[in-house]
Amino acid sequence: MSQIIFITQNQERYELSAESGSLMELAKANRISGIDGDCGGVCSCATCHIHIHPDHFEQLPAASEIELEMLELEDNVSDTSRLACQVKVQDAPEGLIVTVAN
Ligand code: FES
Repeated sequence: MSQIIFITQNQERYELSAESGSLMELAKANRISGIDGDCGGVCSCATCHIHIHPDHFEQLPAASEIELEMLELEDNVSDTSRLACQVKVQDAPEGLIVTVAN
């Protein structure tokens, strides 16, 4: 069980727990504002764009080429941008903090 903290663009903070699935699925299941997941998690919409807390970014497996290409098309990309559908809960460090991108 991992605890993952989502911060929305309205600065609402949600502390969620999960054992499996992606961060996108976790966010959708908890109705986190700003995570739409329109493509269902196949890395083709970028409506699950998040910013990983800088302290945690290097602890995650690297993004795939396809994820990086999708992020290149996205506005407001940061050095710690990821697509939430491509980050697995089981790879997340305990207490991972992510901010929903606008
Ligand atoms: S849900 Fe579509 S790219 Fe993540």
